[in-house]
Amino acid sequence: MKRELLVVGPMYPPTLAALDATYATHKLWQAPDRDAFLASLADRIDAAATSGVHGMNAATMDKLPKLKIISHFGVGVDSIDVDAAKQRGITVTNTPEVLNADVADLAIALLLAAVRRIPMGDRYVRSGKWLKGPMPLSETLQGKTLGIVGLGRIGREIAKRAQSFGLKIAYQGRNRKSDVSWPYFADPVALAKEVDFIVASCPGGEATRGIISRAVIDALGPKGVFVNISRGSVADEAALVEALKEGRLGGAGLDVFVDEPRVPAALLELDNVVLQPHVGSATHPTRLAMGQLVVDNLAAYFAGQPLKTPY
Ligand code: DGY
Repeated sequence: MKRELLVVGPMYPPTLAALDATYATHKLWQAPDRDAFLASLADRIDAAATSGVHGMNAATMDKLPKLKIISHFGVGVDSIDVDAAKQRGITVTNTPEVLNADVADLAIALLLAAVRRIPMGDRYVRSGKWLKGPMPLSETLQGKTLGIVGLGRIGREIAKRAQSFGLKIAYQGRNRKSDVSWPYFADPVALAKEVDFIVASCPGGEATRGIISRAVIDALGPKGVFVNISRGSVADEAALVEALKEGRLGGAGLDVFVDEPRVPAALLELDNVVLQPHVGSATHPTRLAMGQLVVDNLAAYFAGQPLKTPY
């Protein structure tokens, strides 16, 4: 008989197909009455698969007293109350490493697109404006410094790529890293004063909420560009929108927003902003690899083996 698995939210279809093939899956997001659905499973569900914003809070964990593992599709676990899970003896696994390169690629793409105004150029050509004269010149990456907020696995991949584009690197984080010699700033405002561009590649959650504050945005200034491939919550979004509108911040490349998929209407009007629909890791090979980790962690749990990527 197949083991039972709670699937909390929509999943990359090949991963869901793999889970459906192995387990008797119970799809919470399709249930008309969520509480009744959870109550009907409470005495037998010990494993759950979550994804993206469809994580799990403490109240849901309390409805599943036998739960032992949450296998999350995504490296960021900010949609899961990890402390509550720990208190209840539930292990959370995530999908690190396999997405580093794709997310770092998107960060550099957004930086280039914002600084060299690639979407604006595209609109310029399509609208026929080029026939009337050349587009205004843009800024450059050359000779500039990129400040990385969060020099973790993805941040390091961004640094590697940025260096090959001729950028100098500085970084901010909770701790100075002993294996790099780039300038370190504990204070994000101090970092912003020293650099031309900032990319946020830190984890989301309470510890980093609003770390890209109004003061950071002001310190980056009218020639500065902010790129966010982390979580919308790391920026003071209202301050960001205001600064972009008023030209107090030069530009932004944003893959993530506070209330996805809703994006502040003011951003849609701005020419100095490049927008993406949270697609940092959204390539087929990477999503397949992430899904494989979800599957492998569950298989390890049910086999009584060590989990592959516990958070
Ligand atoms: C992640 O893995 O956390 C990405 O942001 C996709 O959700």
